[in-house]
Amino acid sequence: MSDWSMGYRTDVLYTYGYYRELNPLFVKFVLTSQGYACPDFGPGACACELGFGQGVSINMHAMSSGVNWYGTDFNPSQVNFARTIAQLGSCPVTLKDDDFASFAQRPDLPDFDLIALHGIWSWISPENQDVIIDFVRRKLKVGGVLYISYNVSPGFMLMEPVRHLMREFDQEMVAAKANADERVATISNFINALLGTNPDTIKAVPILRERIAGALGAPSSGDGKVGAGAKDTHYLIGEYLNTYWDISHFSTLAERFDAAKVSFACSASPKDLLDSINLSAADQQLLAPLKGKNIYETTRDFIVNRQFRRDYFIKGPMALSPAQREHEVDQLCFILMTPPSEVKYTMESRLGEAHLMESIYHPIVELMGDFKVRSFAEILAELNKDQVTIARQNLLEAILTLSCNGTLSPAVKLDSVDPEVVARCRKFNHALLEHEHIAQMKFLASPVLQGAFSLSDVFKVLLQIKLQEPNITRDVLCQKLCDIALSNGKTLNKDGKPITKRKEQEAILSEQVDLFLKHSLPLMEAMGTL
Ligand SMILES: C[S@@+](CC[C@H](N)C(=O)[O-])C[C@H]1O[C@@H](n2cnc3c(N)ncnc32)[C@H](O)[C@@H]1O
Repeated sequence: MSDWSMGYRTDVLYTYGYYRELNPLFVKFVLTSQGYACPDFGPGACACELGFGQGVSINMHAMSSGVNWYGTDFNPSQVNFARTIAQLGSCPVTLKDDDFASFAQRPDLPDFDLIALHGIWSWISPENQDVIIDFVRRKLKVGGVLYISYNVSPGFMLMEPVRHLMREFDQEMVAAKANADERVATISNFINALLGTNPDTIKAVPILRERIAGALGAPSSGDGKVGAGAKDTHYLIGEYLNTYWDISHFSTLAERFDAAKVSFACSASPKDLLDSINLSAADQQLLAPLKGKNIYETTRDFIVNRQFRRDYFIKGPMALSPAQREHEVDQLCFILMTPPSEVKYTMESRLGEAHLMESIYHPIVELMGDFKVRSFAEILAELNKDQVTIARQNLLEAILTLSCNGTLSPAVKLDSVDPEVVARCRKFNHALLEHEHIAQMKFLASPVLQGAFSLSDVFKVLLQIKLQEPNITRDVLCQKLCDIALSNGKTLNKDGKPITKRKEQEAILSEQVDLFLKHSLPLMEAMGTL
């Protein structure tokens, strides 16, 4: 571990994820839907990301909107990568390699409308947590939003002794020079040997065996062994092997942030906002009198056995009046992100599989299937053109539901975006498609989403070919994709099974080409990507 790491593991670089909860447009959507006044986040607004990792989120948000983003991460390799991405799009973003304490004291920072930290809080020292609280107190504007994600106790409590064992074993028994994969494999072997002794702790809490399997990434059945090779070395090391692991409760965090004068507004996960699919009638009855208090969230976490929270806090939250709320909701815009034929009308939930009422969801999907960005007011008016069939509140709930898995996304109309923002997104996307050495980046920037969307490897290849040969026919595109995807004995998987027959492989790839030409390409155009 390096001297500057403050107990944080810096020998394994962080993953290249994008998180929409940090997107000001998404923040606005969620808070408005819950009746809170939200900063404008228009051009000139300022936002800050603490611990941006590889910088995918901060870059995508700075690239695709007029918001001025500032951020820091003390790992220089990651900052280097983040700056490389920024340069590809000439992205106006300030990326520092300061530790939190030094960054917090910089005299050259503005006050912020949004301060965001994802995957940071639970793995840093109490002193660094205090630095962040003080930073939010001083630098978040009144009315500004804090986004923070963190582990909580109910869901993680059982894992505490396991995490303690893994960390202690790692420190005392695994050679410091072992690489990340070897370390995780050695720890997995140790845990397997331990489980093999059928310890009383497991007898007392049998579900723990399954939880350990989940953490180490192998089935809990069969020979009972777990982690025959952890599924995600980065996750395991980041989650369990850092010096600090804070799994306290929602109310503990909320009370600490009281010193920064911020109050809890709502969850940043739309799924958590849909009580009907998460809470039984008895749950709702028990929780009703607790609404608006910290105990509501703490109890709810206990009911749902929550492990990880993503929350929005506001400095001086202000509830919108019914008329203001209606007005604000009317202005929100959306785009469908999934071809209508692929939209699923079921959703996994705590209460089992929820079936989305087709009479409500079908017309919305059909209407939005042209990938046109529409405001809430426009959607409501078009759906109810002849007679009122969908009430305002049902539409809002349906939009929240469709946003859970990204079927529908908050958006802005392309013609309302500064042309300079559109130009730099396109510059970045073209550069990314041309620079194969940045293969870790699986996202393209969209001025319509004011953020990013993920691109599968197959669609990336198709896009690359199409950009080189704009007039290519479908059949030649299929041929080229097959040549690339099946070269050098490469195989394909479908539903987790290898496909070996050439005809079947070609059929699968042709389906992908059709999906790309019919839906993905028009969607990418609608998103102002290319
Ligand atoms: C789990 S990663 C999350 C990265 C990013 N937020 C994401 O979710 O993709 C935590 C990040 O915080 C950074 N970090 C940890 N302690 C820090 C400190 N004291 N000062 C600055 N950065 C820190 C690490 O380098 C790492 O990139």
